[in-house]
Amino acid sequence: MDNRNNTIAGWALGACAAALGLAIVGNVLFTAEKPEKMGYPVEGVAADAGGGGAPEEPIANLLAKADAAKGAEIFKKCASCHTVNQGGANGIGPNLYATVGEGVAEGKGGFAFSDALKAKGGKWDFEALNAWLTSPRKYAPGTKMSFAGLSAGKDRADVILYLNSEGSNLPLPAPQAGAPAATDAKVPPASAPAAPGAEAKPSVENVSDAAKPGGKAAEPNK
Ligand code: HEC
Repeated sequence: MDNRNNTIAGWALGACAAALGLAIVGNVLFTAEKPEKMGYPVEGVAADAGGGGAPEEPIANLLAKADAAKGAEIFKKCASCHTVNQGGANGIGPNLYATVGEGVAEGKGGFAFSDALKAKGGKWDFEALNAWLTSPRKYAPGTKMSFAGLSAGKDRADVILYLNSEGSNLPLPAPQAGAPAATDAKVPPASAPAAPGAEAKPSVENVSDAAKPGGKAAEPNK
């Protein structure tokens, strides 16, 4: 009778462990199946960089690894409307020489800024430029800059670094310690006191034994 009960208990425990295992495996599979990106990016359409998705790396961190030469390449997208050389003419957009750090909508040579941009005030610091270039329309609704924006943070950092090299040369902001790294650093001290306690190991053994109905759990029956 006892043996029989043990067997039943063993099988029940085994079934639980197996179900747990399946749930874990299922979870992993399910997570892995999720596509990294939903849908396809459409050329020429502004990606909705402002909302949703993973939080973007801070601009300070992106700037720390940005490439001004790549920024010069990206600036070709801007060059249809902007010059960046010292004393360059205003076109559809204002000349951008030394714009980094300059007052928003001050410009050079009396460029006629929109009221929308003039109303923003403040200075073109790195944060402001990053927000502006993500989506000019969102940053200053009603702006005259009919440019969708650069959805990739890396592209914005490259072009901002390039702009900074054209007449501004402001010191770059210090990169922020990444949030994931900070969490990692906290884990070892928190789990260290628990580690010497051998509790974790036996529980793993128990599960693996119970998972095999022919294993130790069923042995008393012989
Ligand atoms: C289709 C033309 C066009 C394109 C392309 C364009 N801009 Fe502009 N830009 C403008 C106009 C027009 C304004 C003035 C906006 C306003 O007054 O609302 C402006 C304003 C700006 C300003 C503010 C200048 C100041 O002195 O306040 C910056 C910075 C800027 N653009 C950067 C860029 C960058 C960088 C790119 C390329 C990634 C770019 N723009 C692409 C037309 C354009």
